[in-house]
Amino acid sequence: MSGPAPGWQRRGFNVAAMRTEAKRALPRAIFDFVDGGAGDEVTLRRNESDFDALSLLPRPLNGAAERDMSITLFGQKLSMPLMVAPTGLAGLLWPDGEAASARAAAAAGTAYCLSHGSVCTLEALAGTGVTPRWMQTYIYKDRELTREIAERAAAAGYEALVVTIDTQIVGNRERDIRNGFLIPPRLSAGEVARMAFKLPWLWRMRREIPRITFGNYKRAGEAEDLTALAERMLTLPDPGMTWRDIEWLRGIWPGALLLKGVLHPDEAAAAVANGVDGMLVSNHGGRQLDGAASAIEALPGVVEAVDGRAKILLDGGIRRGTHVIKALALGADCCLTGRPQFWGLAVAGEAGVAHVLETFRREIDLAMGLSGLAKIGDIGPDILLRQS
Ligand SMILES: Cc1cc2nc3c(=O)[nH]c(=O)nc-3n(C[C@H](O)[C@H](O)[C@H](O)COP(=O)(O)O)c2cc1C
Repeated sequence: MSGPAPGWQRRGFNVAAMRTEAKRALPRAIFDFVDGGAGDEVTLRRNESDFDALSLLPRPLNGAAERDMSITLFGQKLSMPLMVAPTGLAGLLWPDGEAASARAAAAAGTAYCLSHGSVCTLEALAGTGVTPRWMQTYIYKDRELTREIAERAAAAGYEALVVTIDTQIVGNRERDIRNGFLIPPRLSAGEVARMAFKLPWLWRMRREIPRITFGNYKRAGEAEDLTALAERMLTLPDPGMTWRDIEWLRGIWPGALLLKGVLHPDEAAAAVANGVDGMLVSNHGGRQLDGAASAIEALPGVVEAVDGRAKILLDGGIRRGTHVIKALALGADCCLTGRPQFWGLAVAGEAGVAHVLETFRREIDLAMGLSGLAKIGDIGPDILLRQS
């Protein structure tokens, strides 16, 4: 009863099929929390569909019988140009969800970025020994809290700090409003009844549900419940943050420092001027400002502004191996996967995330083989058909 549904590997033959499996496995309010975006979900849809506007130009006679998709990022070798994006509340999808996902990433030879909003604490995740591990955080109104999280992450051996800059105010996620998946939750009787129909999830999570919390914010000795904690947590990021805060954090954090949520070329140039090592071209998977540029659409402007002075990563809408190849062709160094990793987690825990990462690996390898690309360094703008 608490294991994955029989036959999930066969049915989950690609990322979209894993989404369908996740929809079957999760209560609707939780599936929608993961799947949904802000407002009319225009940016969410365009994150995916804008990849279709780019066409690959293969060169099969390049002789790519042997292919190597490994990359080096901040001194760490990754087995492929795709890592796991920070995604909050993993522990709501599967028991000990963060550790399950991080273990799958490490086994696949890639990096895992822990969300500020993890159920477990950042120290507990570090205790699993998974590596490379990155930590995502915010600039909080309380700069001492900002410092504290950075110092805890450094002490726990996180290699990179990712400062998300696009969630200074929480976006308008209308599916969550419809479902009553709010803080505090206002689930309708129908929604609660529907949850009961997802028996395997309910059974699997029966001991976890009372313990779900935002581990990194729980103060020692405090008996704060999830609702109170979440209410406090959502108001912590500072909409008044400025570049001075980034400069200040740069002075505190010893490892690689990245900004997440960069879309504007001027912001990208300023990030370099303020000493960051990298940035994530991202609109938070369409969950924040609806109408914002899609990640792949914004990428060329950021690449031009950065001009090789920092690493550029991209997330949003990556559903196929060819999407990774297209992002790299436009100048990204690596991509991240958010929802697909969560769909895998919801379906089969660690095995499900491993399955999703393996699906991506297979598809990246196939696309490289069919395009005549033997290594990541062979991927450049010339493999894309230029639109006039
Ligand atoms: C359920 C969910 C929770 C997320 N939580 C966080 C978070 O805590 N911090 C953060 O910086 N981004 C968060 N994100 C955004 C992801 O890091 C990433 O930018 C986005 O999911 C990428 O788009 P994709 O889902 O199309 O791959 C979350 C995304 C989802 C779907």
